[in-house]
Amino acid sequence: MPTFSSGRPPHTRHFSYAVALCLVVSLLFIVGCAPEPKGPALTLAPLPWARDALEPIISARTLSLHYGKHHAGYVIKANALIEKSRFKRKSVEKILSATRGKNKYEALYNNTAQAWNHAFFWGSLTPKGGARPAGPLAEAINREFNGWKGFRSAFIETALSHFGSGWVWLVKDKKTLRIITTSDADTPIAQGLTPLFTIDLWEHAYYLDYHNKRKVYVEGVFDGLAHWKKAEQRYRP
Ligand SMILES: [Fe+2]
Repeated sequence: MPTFSSGRPPHTRHFSYAVALCLVVSLLFIVGCAPEPKGPALTLAPLPWARDALEPIISARTLSLHYGKHHAGYVIKANALIEKSRFKRKSVEKILSATRGKNKYEALYNNTAQAWNHAFFWGSLTPKGGARPAGPLAEAINREFNGWKGFRSAFIETALSHFGSGWVWLVKDKKTLRIITTSDADTPIAQGLTPLFTIDLWEHAYYLDYHNKRKVYVEGVFDGLAHWKKAEQRYRP
């Protein structure tokens, strides 16, 4: 009478099944027990310099209101909205990409984007600004904007031609650099772009110091506070 066999003794096969089962159970246990991210999605990080460090271009009074009231307010509102949403365990970048342009999440997007934009803005400024970029970023700027003068005038012109509240950005779009503006809270990271540098164009950023003279503020920040070393670090050719 012929018999059918895998060629391995039955007790060996049972042992293999048991090992495989143990591995699956262990994996499920590990996944189930993996700690979920705790705490709020956004935090109000301390400013990287003293509140009077950007004077006279940005006064301590403006900075105290801008950071302590506006930025802090966006963080508080964003965290409250995220906590009540299905995004509470997602990264800020994923939240922004998933909620952009969706009416249902308009307030969540706006507050989260403003919190992110402001943190990025503080990182774009330094009291030791004024120097020009170096290395690959400088080469790309010279190549794509016909030199530093061309870049400076294009950046400032773009900022001044923006209507209403928003932001002016130097971004990397695939392989090229672009100067863009976004309206209100909108942010380039929700559009698949890589921001390198920004200036806040909301009136709360300059009205106390310059009233309606946005040009004086933008030129002052660009020429005196721009943190090009940080932009170089953000740039990946
Ligand atoms: Fe702002």
